[in-house]
Amino acid sequence: MSTRRVLDLGHCGKIPVDTLFQLHLETRNGHMITLHQSKMARSLGSWVYDGASVLARYIEAYVIDSECGEDGSKTNERPLTGKSVVELGAGTGIVGILMGYYGADVITTDLETLVPLIQYNIERNAHALGGRVRAEALCWGDDLRANFPRNVDYIILANCVYYEGVLELLAKTTKQLAGKQSVVFACYEERIPEIRKLIEKWHEIVGEFFAIEEIPREYYRCMAELDCIRIVKMKAK
Ligand SMILES: C[S@@+](CC[C@H](N)C(=O)[O-])C[C@H]1O[C@@H](n2cnc3c(N)ncnc32)[C@H](O)[C@@H]1O
Repeated sequence: MSTRRVLDLGHCGKIPVDTLFQLHLETRNGHMITLHQSKMARSLGSWVYDGASVLARYIEAYVIDSECGEDGSKTNERPLTGKSVVELGAGTGIVGILMGYYGADVITTDLETLVPLIQYNIERNAHALGGRVRAEALCWGDDLRANFPRNVDYIILANCVYYEGVLELLAKTTKQLAGKQSVVFACYEERIPEIRKLIEKWHEIVGEFFAIEEIPREYYRCMAELDCIRIVKMKAK
């Protein structure tokens, strides 16, 4: 008799994997990445936000090509090979896992409770991944453990700006991971005016260290069902 596999998300609940629902992302070379999500867990990170899926698609459409050498040396299926990525507040791990598909070495992070869900998603997509992808607990503001890289190529923050108490901590962790060459991609879902104010405050905090570039909507409007999604790119000043 087979036992029902359950993901233990600590205080967020115990989630049987047969209750997870799926989101499929087809890569541009026809492979399928599947994200497993739950609305039963007591966590905002247990399902994929529209903004995260748009950011993943934006990176796939515009960033990955920029990694292809002019001589076509990286026009293979895995143009992010050799690139490092850290995803903060990853939830299901969608953006990091897609970048891992394209060859990046990824650490996809969230609070400890969500790590089993990210691990499950990595495990279920392992056959398709071109790079090494792992899940780690990382609470914003905590000192980075020695096994975290510094000066990473890409730092991903999808829908991480949604409550005020953590903005300084999120900025601290982002700064610790970033170096001169790092590119930070953040997306927001500006559903209510309060979030717009928070984003302004966040940009004030990080604007001291990073130059912030708003990605024009026309680049990703066709990928988004919602009008309230914003994507920004940040680089150390
Ligand atoms: C709105 S969800 C977004 C999840 C995912 N990035 C997405 O867009 O689909 C915000 C995520 O940030 C994580 N988070 C919130 N506070 C955090 C903290 N102090 N340290 C680390 N992660 C945190 C939550 O657990 C959650 O997964």
